[in-house]
Amino acid sequence: MRKIYVVGIGAGDPDHLTLQAAKAIGRTNVFFLLDKGETKQSLIDLRERIIRAYSHPHKRIIEGRDPDRDRTPADYTGTVADWRHRRSLVIEELIDEHLRPDETGAILVWGDPALYDSTIAILDEILERGATTFEYEVIPGISSVSALAAKHRVGLNRVGQPVQITTGRRLAEGWPEGADDVVVMLDAQQAFTAHPEAEIYWGAYVGTEDELLASGRVGEVADEIVRTRTEARERHGWIMDTYLLRRNPEKP
Ligand SMILES: C[S@@+](CC[C@H](N)C(=O)[O-])C[C@H]1O[C@@H](n2cnc3c(N)ncnc32)[C@H](O)[C@@H]1O
Repeated sequence: MRKIYVVGIGAGDPDHLTLQAAKAIGRTNVFFLLDKGETKQSLIDLRERIIRAYSHPHKRIIEGRDPDRDRTPADYTGTVADWRHRRSLVIEELIDEHLRPDETGAILVWGDPALYDSTIAILDEILERGATTFEYEVIPGISSVSALAAKHRVGLNRVGQPVQITTGRRLAEGWPEGADDVVVMLDAQQAFTAHPEAEIYWGAYVGTEDELLASGRVGEVADEIVRTRTEARERHGWIMDTYLLRRNPEKP
C-alpha cells in the first residue's frame, strides 16, 4: 500500500518542526510541493530547507502548480469548493504518476494541517473518487495560533471560557456570539479596527526573521498596526498575520 504523510511543519521557524515530523520526513521517498504561483519565496525556501535537513538522500521532489483561484469571489464557499476540487485533480495526477507501490510520499503543510488548510479534505476527496488508493497519516504541527500566543506570552482563553478561531471575513460581519476571546486568521481587511475597546495581540510573519508583533487596546494601536502591515506587505509582496482579540479584557 502506498502511504502519504500530511506533515505540519510549523508556522515559519525551522525549529517548530517536531521530532515526529522530522522522522516522517526521514521516511519519505517523494515530496509533493505545490507552488502557489505567488511571491512567497521564503515559504518555499523553508520547505526546501527542511527537506534538505531531514530527508533521505534518495528522495524525489515533485513540483506541481496550484490551480488559480478568485480571491474576492461573490460565492466564497462555492469558489473554495471548486478550487479544492481542481486542486484534488492536480494532486491525484501527481500521486498516480510519481508514487510507486509501497513508497511513502509527503505533503508539507504550513502550521498545523487541522487549521484552515485543505490538504486533508483534498486527500479524502481523491480517495472517495476511488480511482487512486493510498493510506495517509496526519502529523500535527505548531500552528500560527500557538506561535502567536507563545510570542505574546498569553493564554488564548480565560478561566473556563471558550475561545473562537475565525476569519477576518467573519469578524467583519460582527463579533461572534458566545466568546469574548477570538483568534482571527486570513484577515485581508483588518476587521479588528471596528472594535476599539477590545485588546489585541497581533503578529505577522510570526516565527520568521521578519516577525512583527504589537499589542494593546485596539483604539490605541490600530493605526500603528494598519500602517506597519501596509508597509510590510508592500516590502515583502505578501503578508500572513494573525491576532487574538479580547473583549472585556479586565475579566480574569
Ligand atoms: C491558509 S491559513 C493556514 C494556517 C496554518 N495551517 C496554521 O496552522 O497556522 C493562512 C493564515 O494563517 C495565518 N498564518 C500562517 N502563518 C503565519 C505566521 N507565521 N504569522 C502570522 N500568521 C500566520 C495567517 O492568518 C494566514 O492568513
